[in-house]
Amino acid sequence: MGSNSIGKEFVVTCFGESHGRCVGVVIDGCPAGLPLNEEDIQKELDKRLPKKEEIVSARREEDAVEILSGIYEGFTTGAPICVLVWNKEVISDDYDAIRHTPRPGHADYPARIKYLGFNDHRGGGRFSGRITVAFVMAGAIAKKLLELAGIEVLAYATEIGGVKMRSTQSLEDIREKTYGSSVRCPDPKVAVEMEETILKAKKMGDSVGGVVECVASNVLAGVGEPIFDSLDAELAKMLFDIPAVKGVEFGVGFEAARLKGSENNDSYVIRDGEIEAVTNNAGGVLGGLSSGMPIVVRVAVKPTPSISKEQKTVDMLNMADTTIHVKGRHDSCIVPKAVPVVEASVAMVLVDQLLRAGLIPKVLGVEAVGEYSDVTEED
Ligand SMILES: Cc1cc2nc3c(=O)[nH]c(=O)nc-3n(C[C@H](O)[C@H](O)[C@H](O)COP(=O)(O)O)c2cc1C
Repeated sequence: MGSNSIGKEFVVTCFGESHGRCVGVVIDGCPAGLPLNEEDIQKELDKRLPKKEEIVSARREEDAVEILSGIYEGFTTGAPICVLVWNKEVISDDYDAIRHTPRPGHADYPARIKYLGFNDHRGGGRFSGRITVAFVMAGAIAKKLLELAGIEVLAYATEIGGVKMRSTQSLEDIREKTYGSSVRCPDPKVAVEMEETILKAKKMGDSVGGVVECVASNVLAGVGEPIFDSLDAELAKMLFDIPAVKGVEFGVGFEAARLKGSENNDSYVIRDGEIEAVTNNAGGVLGGLSSGMPIVVRVAVKPTPSISKEQKTVDMLNMADTTIHVKGRHDSCIVPKAVPVVEASVAMVLVDQLLRAGLIPKVLGVEAVGEYSDVTEED
């Protein structure tokens, strides 16, 4: 399997470039019998575009989803599903200037060395954030499968440019408010501060980063494939495959290094005849397996590398020092667009692991294995 595919049972292969003809995805291994149409995918893809124009890049792609295969009479057939969007709003001239002067912080320099200049550099080519459109399209299908199993995946911005969410939000608030906010933060007061921070950076020709948190609820204990395909490792790999992600932590994460065992361990209790942990410092994963507690993972997103502020770089043709003001249409903060991408990425990994464990049947409507069977049969 090449490096453009991920998953063992729910195999996702993404294709396309930022300024090529299209960006798309082929999903092999999606169970047959799932009701699916363009709208199911479109509504997830639309989450990548906060309505407030000042917050995101000025590139305005219509991104109308087309399903090319794998669906018959409104249901998945079990055959590979190919979904794509066409690139229409392409302005490549802005990138001529940077062909030989790599943008600091972007993939231009290592990509040119690796591919000897054969790579499509326009708009960052394969290294563009636009590639994550494919992640969201595959994630939309994964989320529909998770819904059948009663699993919900919700991501939201908890920090942007140093402005942090100050209180924990209920799942209900996160569900209702995240996508109503231009920065994808469910706390409206904090969202306003975050927005101001982004606009301030933009005005100065600069950019800011932030943190996206993701919660997957209702995942049964015991999901994961140790040793090398353990749940946290698979999630971390997928999340690090999102451009601009520089850190991944579960539960208390790096803070665990500063706690005593007695503080960090999540004690068990019996509640209404069920085993539960009192705290969730582990973030829902123990020994590479889901613990039955919500899976809580956070990703650190770096500030957008393409900034109009002057930076030092090199002219690779003349082997001379020079400076660069990056032109083109760029996000002053990647976080708002990254929120649905994180959600989709977590959903894809969970579906792959549930299929591997036999917890989602290969043909829906046929009796499933395990506790998810009741839920699946009803649908
Ligand atoms: C949704 C999304 C949108 C992005 N938009 C931009 C952008 O407008 N300009 C830019 O320079 N980088 C953008 N990036 C980040 C670059 O693609 C990324 O920093 C680059 O490929 C280098 O990879 P690395 O940061 O993972 O090392 C975006 C990333 C994501 C996930």
